[in-house]
Amino acid sequence: MSNIIMPMPYKILNVTKMTEIEYLFRVEYPNVENINFGQFMQLSLPKVGECPISITDFNKEEGWIEFLIRKVGIVTDEIFNLCCGDIMPMRGPYGKGFDHVDFKDKHLVIATGGSGLAPIRSLVNHVYRNPQEVKSMELLFGFKNEASILFKDEVLKWRENHPMILTVDKGCGIDGECVGLVTEYVPLLKMTKANFDEVVVVIVGPPNMMKYTAIEFEKLGVPTENIWVSFERKMSCAVGKCGHCRIDETYVCLEGPVFNYSQAKYLLD
Ligand SMILES: Cc1cc2nc3c(=O)[nH]c(=O)nc-3n(C[C@H](O)[C@H](O)[C@H](O)COP(=O)(O)OP(=O)(O)OC[C@H]3O[C@@H](n4cnc5c(N)ncnc54)[C@H](O)[C@@H]3O)c2cc1C
Ligand code: FES
Repeated sequence: MSNIIMPMPYKILNVTKMTEIEYLFRVEYPNVENINFGQFMQLSLPKVGECPISITDFNKEEGWIEFLIRKVGIVTDEIFNLCCGDIMPMRGPYGKGFDHVDFKDKHLVIATGGSGLAPIRSLVNHVYRNPQEVKSMELLFGFKNEASILFKDEVLKWRENHPMILTVDKGCGIDGECVGLVTEYVPLLKMTKANFDEVVVVIVGPPNMMKYTAIEFEKLGVPTENIWVSFERKMSCAVGKCGHCRIDETYVCLEGPVFNYSQAKYLLD
């Protein structure tokens, strides 16, 4: 029987600088069929430590998964020293992802703040390639400034087929037309004209962004049960044993990171 907490070695295929502090790592991974949108892996560097990182995208045919990693501390600093051809030890995949979000034949609205785009990117790419699965997909992305816009090429590609609002907190965005917080743009979305029972909203970003964006959707009349969020929380074991990720009685590593907002609203401080 395989050991679910034993890291295994995988080869890094590519490293791409996305912003000053965020790099995209493509890693060879033969078992892509086990992965669901929004799940994460524990990257485990010997003698350094471990950290949970979302699988930002995956490709079954070519056998790889990707991580968008922000350099913030002990483990991620060390990962940034790794290059193409090096080994990335990791374990997983873990967590409940977006696979239990019933978006089929719905108006799917995705709102993200900053690197919150990373955990949802595989789902956006999936719907982009399979638009017949939804009634529509609408995208609302917020970034600090133009330099921090992630996956710019893909963002521009998605925008050709799906309505999108791309806003920056200050300065100029890709076109310079939208400045301000994601919350301000919720009432301007096209989905406001849809039947809200057919709308599914996914929000990913910093805790306050998720909380106040969800409130804006609720104010419009979107049922709370149709809103989903994804959490980032300090973790250790990632398999429900250590309690590091616990909020009250909820184990984020097992029951999340993706939660329905009717549950998550009591977990977000
Ligand atoms: C489900 C999930 C998915 C995630 N997905 C991603 C992802 O896709 N990409 C990504 O980049 N990150 C992701 N994260 C976040 C990532 O796991 C954390 O940033 C992780 O802590 C990085 O580990 P580290 O050892 O590099 O940083 P750490 O050394 O743990 O530092 C992390 C932060 O804590 C601060 N800190 C460290 N020690 C202390 C201290 N003693 N007192 C106060 N502050 C301290 C640091 O300054 C830094 O801001 C995810 C987290 C979860 C739970
Ligand atoms: S990280 Fe150990 S219980 Fe969730």
